[in-house]
Amino acid sequence: MSSAIELAGVQHSYGDVTAVGPVDLVVPPGEFLVLVGASGCGKSTLLRLIAGFEQPTRGTIRTAGEPPVPGRGAGLVFQQPRLFPWRTVGGNVALALKYAGLPTDRVGELLESVGLHDVAHRRTWQISGGQQQRVAIARALAVDNPLLLLDEPFAALDALTRERLQEDLREVSARTGRTCVFVTHSVEEAVFLGSRVVVLTARPGRVALDLPVNLPRTGVSPSRLRALPEFAALRATVRSAFEELPV
Ligand SMILES: Nc1ncnc2c1ncn2[C@@H]1O[C@H](COP(=O)(O)OP(=O)(O)OP(=O)(O)O)[C@@H](O)[C@H]1O
Ligand SMILES: [Mg+2]
Repeated sequence: MSSAIELAGVQHSYGDVTAVGPVDLVVPPGEFLVLVGASGCGKSTLLRLIAGFEQPTRGTIRTAGEPPVPGRGAGLVFQQPRLFPWRTVGGNVALALKYAGLPTDRVGELLESVGLHDVAHRRTWQISGGQQQRVAIARALAVDNPLLLLDEPFAALDALTRERLQEDLREVSARTGRTCVFVTHSVEEAVFLGSRVVVLTARPGRVALDLPVNLPRTGVSPSRLRALPEFAALRATVRSAFEELPV
């Protein structure tokens, strides 16, 4: 079976600014890869390359063995929610299902999974920023794509909602076996979510640390998991890799 994602010598430049690379990464199916790195190091660029929205300046990218096709094979959650303001909350999720040729009767269930069933009929500008981001997550989960790419999806959320959604996402990924690439600035979030954490250098982002996270994916409560000594040790390893980077 081919890798879910394969980057070989990938580099990307905007004009004469090299944003990222060279990066080599092989992501097996079902992995939850978290990318951590300073602002501007090229994390969003890497996600856009994997989604097929940008072409690498150098190197090659394969998803499931093929060059990525934009809009196919990957669910995306962007740094900004990017919802359709003329549609309701439910309407935004229904559109994703319709676009994928799926029945729209799962809208309620999907909104329920992100705690938004009570605002299904509101317009997206009538809900908070955190709620908008949750609509974007429900929309990405709607279609059963093998790949889920998430760009700092929880950055604008309050601490409690953020933890709840982290727990939900961890559970969803363990249950569905989807391959996830998740971008964050938070070391704690990286270790909690990831089965593997990659720390990137400052721009142009390259792999500074590639760390497997061998914490249990199921059967342990989130609070017990966060309290494990292994959790603290992993957090310290990631943090010190960060601190050792030249600025
Ligand atoms: N469309 C663009 N045109 C020119 N330069 C760009 C473009 N998009 C990004 N860049 C530059 O490329 C670099 C990497 O940007 P990118 O958005 O990938 O960083 P990031 O790691 O996601 O940052 P942040 O954590 O702030 O979201 C930055 O220096 C940015 O200014
Ligand atoms: Mg970004």
